[in-house]
Amino acid sequence: MELLPLCVCVLMWAAAASAEEPGPEITVIEGHDVTLPCSISEDITAERFDWRADGQKEVYVYEGGLSSSKDLSGQHEQFKGRVSHFPGGLKDGNASIKISNTKVSDSGKYSCEFRRTNQTQHVKLLVDGPLKDRGDENIPGAAPKPSVTTLQRGEDWELLQCQVLGASPKPEVQWKDREGNILPAEEPKISERGGSYDITLQIKVTKTGYYRCVSTQETVRHQTEAETYVPVRGTAQKPNIVTIDQTDNWAQLQCEVLGASPKPEVQWKDREGNILPAEEPKISERGGSYDITLQIKVTKTGYYRCVSTQETIRHQTEAETYIYLHGSLTGWSDPVSVAVTLLVVCVVLTVL
Ligand SMILES: *[C@@H]1O[C@H](CO)[C@@H](O)[C@H](O)[C@H]1NC(C)=O
Ligand SMILES: *[C@@H]1O[C@H](CO)[C@@H](O)[C@H](O)[C@H]1NC(C)=O
Repeated sequence: MELLPLCVCVLMWAAAASAEEPGPEITVIEGHDVTLPCSISEDITAERFDWRADGQKEVYVYEGGLSSSKDLSGQHEQFKGRVSHFPGGLKDGNASIKISNTKVSDSGKYSCEFRRTNQTQHVKLLVDGPLKDRGDENIPGAAPKPSVTTLQRGEDWELLQCQVLGASPKPEVQWKDREGNILPAEEPKISERGGSYDITLQIKVTKTGYYRCVSTQETVRHQTEAETYVPVRGTAQKPNIVTIDQTDNWAQLQCEVLGASPKPEVQWKDREGNILPAEEPKISERGGSYDITLQIKVTKTGYYRCVSTQETIRHQTEAETYIYLHGSLTGWSDPVSVAVTLLVVCVVLTVL
């Protein structure tokens, strides 16, 4: 009769012992390393411990000096080359492992089992995805989307301003290009009231392109950004006209537009704006900026214009040259030439 309570006690203890100790929960940002703790108070240098994920996948095994790192086969593909133990801690019973370059798919329940004593410990691992994929909904103090404005505009530059208001904790604000490179900006202006931050960051840009202002609150794992397209005016230099070759009857002219972005259309025109038939343009590109040369053979005295047009940014620039050809008749399209010619004719007729 006295045995019954004892039995109940033993059963309860057994039930409690067999129910999994939940163990610690560890959160890590994808790509970072993480240490999963496991230890026992005895020297385990000559012992065996097994790490498993979700009860089956073999993560790591150590046995008397051998390990999954090099000697033991059976490790699951997912963990190959990314797991190690701490050899220096073995004599103190430290069976923790380090997983490098964590992936979201590493998330799960891990167990660490000491073979000889049948002791098992548990760790839950949560690998957080990249910052960008997280929504704002459940993050207190998440910074609002930055607001981007153009403060000033010059011939060939724009001063952009990014503002993040009322963010807590304090965000890091950066200007980046589309490839994610951080661009050199001015010093941020930071003001704080009641633990909430207003940050203003200016940048002077001289190239046409996309610019991003990115606000990152590392501690709450929140990132938000705003992008703007800046058509920097004057990015196509004024065309440069050179006379490549000339005879009495014709001239070979070349128009050169260097370092233009976006790609301009280059054309030869007369003073009336008619497009003149030219050769095929030669186009070369480096880093998104274009060099274009366009040649034309002219056979008439007159004014010739080279016009560079960047339709998308509504930018046009031109250069003009006057070509005088001894052997050719005056270009009748040119009023000055017409006047001069008529004057000469009149003078000649008068003299006669
Ligand atoms: C085990 O070793 C790791 C690495 O040195 C250390 O971070 C961890 O705290 C150790 N654990 C214990 C229980 O000593
Ligand atoms: C360890 O547990 C297994 C079953 O999980 C059992 O078969 C074995 O006898 C136990 N060994 C010790 C030493 O308790």
